[in-house]
Amino acid sequence: MNLTGKTAVITGGAKGIGAATALLFAENGIKKIYLVDLDDENGRKMERQLNGGCSCLYIHLDVTDEAGVKEMFFSIDKEGTADILFNCAGITSVKGIMETDATLWNKIMTVNVTSAFLFSKEALIRMERKGYGRIVNVSSISAQVGGIRTSPAYAASKAAILGLTRSFAKYGASRGVTVNTIVPGIADTPMTQAKDFVYSNSEVPMGRAAKPEEIAEGVLFLASDKSAYITGQCLHVNGGMYFG
Ligand SMILES: NC(=O)c1ccc[n+]([C@@H]2O[C@H](COP(=O)([O-])OP(=O)(O)OC[C@H]3O[C@@H](n4cnc5c(N)ncnc54)[C@H](O)[C@@H]3O)[C@@H](O)[C@H]2O)c1
Repeated sequence: MNLTGKTAVITGGAKGIGAATALLFAENGIKKIYLVDLDDENGRKMERQLNGGCSCLYIHLDVTDEAGVKEMFFSIDKEGTADILFNCAGITSVKGIMETDATLWNKIMTVNVTSAFLFSKEALIRMERKGYGRIVNVSSISAQVGGIRTSPAYAASKAAILGLTRSFAKYGASRGVTVNTIVPGIADTPMTQAKDFVYSNSEVPMGRAAKPEEIAEGVLFLASDKSAYITGQCLHVNGGMYFG
């Protein structure tokens, strides 16, 4: 898929699915990637690695910082409008219903949902002017089947992403902007490699977790012109765990 000449903002791009997507975008000819994260060590490592194949700027930013998000988009404006936004930053928790309090609930909702709203809004303002844009969000299988080993806040945040995606898709459809969401099952990333995150390959009909690169392939499709007539949709990438 050809992303030649395109520019992308990827949140949570320092590792995991965001990093795999950035590398795949670069392999597919993207011109520039703005990689947003808080993990400076991995973010800078990715910046160096990507700068071989495309231009990459690592930006240290908490995705929940509304003023910071606005400021970042203003600074990108000097170089032109981003064609693609991938809202990938996210957090989870293994605390169940009885262990989840309002503080944890609000933190997960803010990082996973509010950030996607803030970034999508700023991107949409600019994409609308340009008459072109691709926004890709990340939900989770837990939005469909409920969180078992993750906090109910995680499942709720990933279900909220579906409503957000559809609302932005409705607005964007007549303005050249598509908005879709990728819905992974279990992917082998630092998030699921954490020692308190327990899963078994036997839960997955295909017998293994996804490689982050396999999720990235779906993101690439939704970010490319191959998906020009697709908007407001969920693309499930889950090895047969759930049929949407
Ligand atoms: N790994 C899975 O099995 C899986 C399954 C379904 C959905 N997802 C979703 O996919 C996305 C990526 O997950 P992953 O597995 O690659 O996770 P990860 O933990 O490996 O990477 C997430 C990245 O987001 C960054 N981040 C977190 N909070 C941030 C903040 N406030 N500001 C800026 N950056 C921040 C982290 O520093 C990290 O680099 C998440 O939204 C996650 O919920 C993952």
